[in-house]
Amino acid sequence: MVRKEIEKLLNIALEKLNIDEKASVSFSSFPELCDYQSNSVFALAKKTGQNPFDLAGKIIDNIEETEFFTFEVARPAFINIKLTQKGYNHFAKLLSLDERCGVSKLKSQKVLLDYGGANVAKALHVGHLRSPIIGEALKRLYKFLGEEVISDVHLGDWGLQMGLTELQLYEDGKLDFYFSGKGKEPELTLEMLNEAYPKASARKNTDEEFKKMADEWTLKIQNKEKPYFEIYQKIREVSVKEIKKHYSELGAEFDLWLGESDADEYINKALDIIESKGLSRISEGAVVVDVAVEGENIPIPKKSEEEVQRYKNPMPPAILKKYNGGALYATTDIATILMRNTQIDRLNRIEYIVDARQKNHFVQVFRVCKMAEISPSDQQLIHIGYGTMNGSDGKPFKTRSGDTIKLEDIINMLIDKAGEKLKSNGVEYDRKLALQIGVAAMKFGDLSNNVGKDYVFDLDKFLSFEGKTGPYLQYTVCRINSILNKVSQDGGEINIASEEEKKIIKNILKLNSSYEIAYKEKSLNSLCLATFDLASAFSTFYNNHKILTEKDMHKKASFISLLKLVKKALTQALNVLAIEVPEKM
Ligand code: ARG
Repeated sequence: MVRKEIEKLLNIALEKLNIDEKASVSFSSFPELCDYQSNSVFALAKKTGQNPFDLAGKIIDNIEETEFFTFEVARPAFINIKLTQKGYNHFAKLLSLDERCGVSKLKSQKVLLDYGGANVAKALHVGHLRSPIIGEALKRLYKFLGEEVISDVHLGDWGLQMGLTELQLYEDGKLDFYFSGKGKEPELTLEMLNEAYPKASARKNTDEEFKKMADEWTLKIQNKEKPYFEIYQKIREVSVKEIKKHYSELGAEFDLWLGESDADEYINKALDIIESKGLSRISEGAVVVDVAVEGENIPIPKKSEEEVQRYKNPMPPAILKKYNGGALYATTDIATILMRNTQIDRLNRIEYIVDARQKNHFVQVFRVCKMAEISPSDQQLIHIGYGTMNGSDGKPFKTRSGDTIKLEDIINMLIDKAGEKLKSNGVEYDRKLALQIGVAAMKFGDLSNNVGKDYVFDLDKFLSFEGKTGPYLQYTVCRINSILNKVSQDGGEINIASEEEKKIIKNILKLNSSYEIAYKEKSLNSLCLATFDLASAFSTFYNNHKILTEKDMHKKASFISLLKLVKKALTQALNVLAIEVPEKM
């Protein structure tokens, strides 16, 4: 808002000087000196063959009269800009009046976001935590900035885990009814699944025969054979119920609850397209597509010698059908893109919020779709790969015994720890409140890092009520609410008088521009940081001003309006981050 306003003034001055170029303005890197700055003069001077310092002076001389800013040249040729008192009041008023608190819409593209990615029959684990957190926030950000967004959970429900789980249940005598028709139909429970899959998964690594059988069972399910497919549907139902519960606890909402299996009828269609374009070939009985690009080498991670060898080779071919005709992970992803582009009109982008370690998978899938024109050339396919959540030892977060940690255990841990924290603060335990705080702690701890980077899961730090944390932000809004609840009068005209108040306005303006940064970076860290900065500017103001006991009625009314404005800006940002604010804490 303000930046654009200043740029307009500078550009009018440039026009007057017959310079057919545009100037840009940024927040000041020296807040003690000025609020905004323009570094454009250097380039402009070069282009027009003028002395930079002189040109800066000329620009300033040609700026239209304004009550809202002062302009000053600083050597060698910066233009420093300050908001005047009138400027602060003017923009504070505009921010207060605007429903979106001054954040304008950017785009109107149509986007499909693929996040969540829970697997049917397997318990959700720590590796599935970041996707719903980041995906939900990106979805809200895109929507907020004016895009049409469709979210799809894309369940992993068409892979080997189904055959493994079913076969294990069968061997454990749990599926007799379906095969012999005798006895009573058993109730397939979550506990049964949670036991069967890990057992089968471990077994497949040592028991070649079992693995082969599981492959066959998987194929029977994929071919919708009786009773394999019916049992699978039951397993899916039990799993999905549990998955929905966890996503709802994490505040992730999906428009589409589709899975790999829903793209099944598109698998053959996709394979036909690929084959008709001469892209596939048979290798050892499997259908593969070569996707490597000439001269390509994948960066070599420091791993075992064997791994290093593998990575030295170019991008391996995408395998679309196994020796036995079964579909693979890449196949279902390609078929899903075909399904989406068939069923949904003109998607500008499809974005996947999936572990960065799946990079090669997406490179393969995207290349096949582009080569086969399953994805139109003007459609962007983007993998937003997130880094790993590590333990304090810097390695992927595990249980003490070294096992992968279940998502359910993490959620319980968040609730327990947040509950303890509340108790130590003298607040009565309430599960809903503990969940709200625990999840906020987790989300902010996650989102305040750049998406692609690994970070350390440090729950004690995340849960602190002070510092850059989710609970601190929740607490700040609660505190504002409690003050507003205590005042009987409405706000009035805002008069920005003190340095602390100026800082609040500046931080709202910064927060507003961080939406665009987050949008460009596809990472929410800048938005998190700016939200925290505003909360902390508010705290400083609050500590230095008596609001409730202020005698000057005009001043008090201005404070109240300012509080409402801060609340609006913070709530808006937290809403985008999908962090809930409790009523009190
Ligand atoms: N189910 C997959 C996994 O657990 C994640 C799915 C990600 N989305 C996708 N379209 N491949 O690794």
